[in-house]
Amino acid sequence: MSNVTVCARFRPLSSKEKRDHGENICIRSLDSETFVLKDEKEEEFTFSFDRVFYEGSEQADVYKFLAFPIVQDACNAINGTIITYGQTGAGKTYSMEGTSILDCHEQNKGLLPRVVDGLFHCLESADNTTKYTVNLSMVEIYMEKIRDLLDLSKDNLQIKEGKVKGIFLSGATEVSISDRTEALRHLSSGIANRAVGETQMNMASSRSHCAYIFTVQQEEKNERRVKMGKLILVDLAGSEKAERSGAEGRVLEEAKTINKSLSALGNVINALTNGSPGKTNHIPYRDSKLTRILQDALGGNSRTALLCCCSPSTSNASESLSSLRFGARAKHIKTSPRVNFSETKIDKKNLVPSPTKNESYERILNKLQQNLDEEQGKLSPIKDESCERILEKLRQTMDEKQVKRLEELFVREGLYCYPNTGNGLESTHNDAISQTIVSLQKTVEELECTVTKVKNS
Ligand SMILES: Nc1ncnc2c1ncn2[C@@H]1O[C@H](COP(=O)(O)OP(=O)(O)O)[C@@H](O)[C@H]1O
Ligand SMILES: [Mg+2]
Repeated sequence: MSNVTVCARFRPLSSKEKRDHGENICIRSLDSETFVLKDEKEEEFTFSFDRVFYEGSEQADVYKFLAFPIVQDACNAINGTIITYGQTGAGKTYSMEGTSILDCHEQNKGLLPRVVDGLFHCLESADNTTKYTVNLSMVEIYMEKIRDLLDLSKDNLQIKEGKVKGIFLSGATEVSISDRTEALRHLSSGIANRAVGETQMNMASSRSHCAYIFTVQQEEKNERRVKMGKLILVDLAGSEKAERSGAEGRVLEEAKTINKSLSALGNVINALTNGSPGKTNHIPYRDSKLTRILQDALGGNSRTALLCCCSPSTSNASESLSSLRFGARAKHIKTSPRVNFSETKIDKKNLVPSPTKNESYERILNKLQQNLDEEQGKLSPIKDESCERILEKLRQTMDEKQVKRLEELFVREGLYCYPNTGNGLESTHNDAISQTIVSLQKTVEELECTVTKVKNS
């Protein structure tokens, strides 16, 4: 079991805060872990965190303390999550991205580009018996819908849970990244797709939660099993109360939805930390998309760090107090990170159902779809003989033309090669199961189409 690492970060006063409220700040530092916050009624609250980053803190220090150990773990197949929390304008995105992903002074680089550097540094220093593959997905949760930031046509992704893979987003675009430049390019174009709105708090504030998901897969030369670490960075939308942001209409609705999912996050944290010892109480992960995505990060299989971003201005003391209280509660969460292995082979005997004499095509397809959904939760490269087996089983119930079409589809998707051509097997072996599943799903869709046509003819 490990505790969630919680840090607080205070940004410098903004020029607006200085202009409207002067240089007064609401915090007094005691040391690098403890400080006192004075609220509007002059009441004092002492907070202690794993580390406090004050106004002059360096981006590099935040990375080193908060993210570096998690990045190293991800390279060793241990899941990690890094979350930035706080009111709009408090420095979440600055901490996460820096001033710009692509074009940024070294000093201003945020966690994301540093994580990319860290990942590739780990990978490059690995011995040559290990083959690493890094994939990236980016999504935003906007008004309780999950949008794929790498493919905006996918605007309502569903969350699923698999035995090995844990919580995952079904059908989310996963791009393979082979170097830093490619990673930053994808991150930058994904970020450009984020929904932004304007409130009084911040002229270009993000009104959505954004999750950056890196999957690091490693294959040892003489190992049958594949190891996989998932590293999720989450830049949350502003935690301020809806009425305070001066929002109206659609923007107010957004703010309410944001507050609802952040309340759900608070409720999950309460349930996790208030339970009686030895008793398993209900944790309401399913109350929002955000908490469901963060299920592993909160009390599950992940090493987790939370950065509570705050304004130091006396004018924002009550919002800062509420962010810090949130962090103090989260500190009590315990998680159980572990190394993630997956089986190298799909359980082929269960993948393709055995058809009985009178079984309809639909039933076979339903079973196949059901099995594929289960397989989605696993990470295991499918082998050519699996495809062969699928084709063989289908030949028993479908006509040769349809099976031929299916075989072509397998070949087109790089899952299978015609005997003796020797092409594609290597890369097939190295493909992640998610790609395999997407291809197989397409096949199922095509088959369903064929079945409908056959029925109607
Ligand atoms: N630690 C910091 N040092 C310097 N500027 C900062 C810092 N944190 C935030 N800022 C600046 O404050 C403004 C608001 O920060 P931002 O990260 O966009 O807030 P949020 O994402 O929490 O809404 C931005 O202009 C950002 O550059
Ligand atoms: Mg932001």
